[in-house]
This record gives sequence, structure tokens and C-alpha cells, in this order.
Amino acid sequence: ESIENRQLKQLHDDATKLYQHILMNTEMGQNALDYLHNRGMTDEDITTFQIGFAPEKSVLQDFFNEKKLDYQILRQSGLFIENQAGNLRERFINRVMFPIRNQNGQVVAFSGRLLEKNKDLPKYLNSPETPIFNKRDILFNYDLAKKEIRTEGNVILFEGFMDVIAAYRSGVKNGVASMGTSLTNEQIYLLERSTSQLNICYDGDDPGQNATNRALDLLTNQTKMKVGVLVIPNGMDPDEFVTKNGKEAFLELAHSARETTISFKMNFLKRDRNLKNESEQIDYIDQVLRVLATIKTPFEQDIYVNQLADEFKIDKTILRQQLVDLVANQP
Ligand code: UTP
Ligand code: MN
Ligand code: MN
Ligand code: MN
Ligand code: MN
Repeated sequence: ESIENRQLKQLHDDATKLYQHILMNTEMGQNALDYLHNRGMTDEDITTFQIGFAPEKSVLQDFFNEKKLDYQILRQSGLFIENQAGNLRERFINRVMFPIRNQNGQVVAFSGRLLEKNKDLPKYLNSPETPIFNKRDILFNYDLAKKEIRTEGNVILFEGFMDVIAAYRSGVKNGVASMGTSLTNEQIYLLERSTSQLNICYDGDDPGQNATNRALDLLTNQTKMKVGVLVIPNGMDPDEFVTKNGKEAFLELAHSARETTISFKMNFLKRDRNLKNESEQIDYIDQVLRVLATIKTPFEQDIYVNQLADEFKIDKTILRQQLVDLVANQP
């Protein structure tokens, strides 16, 4: 490892400790600490995930000036923004700081969350790519989750930091987050080395469910892992679900509510359709059959054909015939 990378990691480690100290022990951090507590986060969570606060005042600069750190290292760290004159100012201001760790548990980047909505600023601000931070390679919390993924035999993929942390608090410690973007091939490869079952647990709202549907389509061609879905009811985020319904409820959901890709799609196609309306019902059945036509295992296909036939009181042989026609007409 280069001296430069080691220095960059040291700098992130120092910044993590400083931000955490500000959150936990200073007046500047009090609002942020109240905010996190109000969202159900415990001091134990804060310690485990090394959460901190970047205040209004530029704290990093003074800290690193004292240490006489190399300007080039500061510049490359992503913790500062450089102006035209070559002066550095801090990138993260007034934000709750979530350290992002690499596979070895070293902090290599940050994501900072605003305490309040601001239409001119992003809710979460992330470190840019740096010599030690390649977004494509990193999954939030993979280092802590790795062991648990092996023992549980599956990994749960969340959208965000707060979801992973709320799950962890509930005893569901095999969670990681792709941090708002779809999985990269590098991240898939990382997960494949630890498990053969990937469960998607995105937000229960429309964007989350649409993203789940898209992820399923992409993943089926990209991974050998079996892919399942955990649906959070009533449009909630996993984090909200834990706060509202308690840890046990989430533990229970994580262990027992897994849907297969196919049953997710069958339910997903029901969204925004009024199945009491005849033409919408016909359209629904047609769409479901197109999904069922993609199943390669005959007995598995048969299970869903039977479900569909029972639900809509249709003759099974007719559905099967329709499937044969669909498969024959596939490109
Ligand atoms: P969400 O909008 O679902 O945020 O984005 P969240 O995780 O529920 O956050 P809270 O509960 O409001 O605090 C999901 C993820 O997308 C990334 C973050 O990683 C976030 O956790 N994201 C979101 C960004 O990088 N930037 C943004 O401005 C918003
Ligand atoms: Mn368990
Ligand atoms: Mn979301
Ligand atoms: Mn949320
Ligand atoms: Mn969310």
C-alpha cells in the first residue's frame, strides 16, 4: 500500500474521531444528537457505526493545520473543496456524518446528512471518488456484516444507512446498503463470495418498489445468487418500520416474509390496477403469464399457474396452453 493511501486513511480515521467527539461531547453537536435520538438511534448504534457531526465551524482545517499535514493529501482526501485560488474549505458543513468503511473496516469516505430539509442542498452529500474510495467496490457495512451473512446464509440489501443501522439494532446484522444506486458488478461479485441468497429490502414507497422491480430484472442475468424480496408494508422505509413497530417485528419480517422474485412481480403488477375491472384483470393476467413464461423449472412454473388459476377461477389447462404459446413466440 502506498504511503499516500496510508496517509489518506489516517486522515479519515482522525476526521471520524473528531466528528464523533463533536457529536457526543460538545454543544455544537447537541442538535444533531437530539435528532439521532429522536429517530430511534441509540448511543450504542452511534458508537458501532462511528457516527459524527460536522458543524458550521470549520473544524477539520484547524485540526489538520496543527498536524502540519501535506496540502496534497488534504486536497486528495475529498474532505475539502478547492477554490480557484487553491484554497481549501470543508466539504461537509452542518451534517450528520456517516463514515463509509472498506472491507477491512477502514474509513475511506463519508456521507453527510442535513438535519433539516433544504431545497437547494442534497439530503445526503457523499465524498467524491479518491485514491482510497472507489464507489463501485464498496457496500456500506459489508465489513461488519460479512460474518453474519455467512452464518445467516443470506445478505439483505437496503437503500440507505439508516435502514442498515435500524436493522442492526433489531438484531438483523447481515444488512448492507448500495447507498442509493443500483448494484455494480463489483459489489455483486463481493456478495457472491459470501452467500448464495440475496434479499432486497428497499423502501416500501413507490420509488423503492419500482427500484426493486428494476433490480430484479437486472440481477437475474448478472448473478448466480438466488434473489428474494422483503417488502416493508404501508410504504414505510425499513428504518421507519423498526421505529414504529419495534425490533421484534422487524426480526420477524426479516426471517419469515421473504417473497420470491416471481411472487414479488405478481404482487407488484397488482399495484395501481383495479382487479375488479374486467379489462384491467385481463391485462393483469396477461402480464403475469409473461412473467411466468420466464421460469425455467417446470414444477415451479406450475405452482404459480395454480395460484393464478385459483385466484381468478380460470381453467389451468387454458393458462398452460397460453404459456406454451407465449414461450413459442418468445424472440
Ligand atoms: P432515501 O431518500 O431513501 O434516504 O435514499 P434514506 O436512506 O431513507 O434517508 P433518511 O431516512 O431520510 O435519513 C436512500 C439512499 O440514497 C442515498 C443515500 O445513501 C441514502 O441513504 N442518497 C439519497 C444520496 O446519496 N443522496 C441524496 O441526496 C439522497
Ligand atoms: Mn437470525
Ligand atoms: Mn428511498
Ligand atoms: Mn429513511
Ligand atoms: Mn429511504
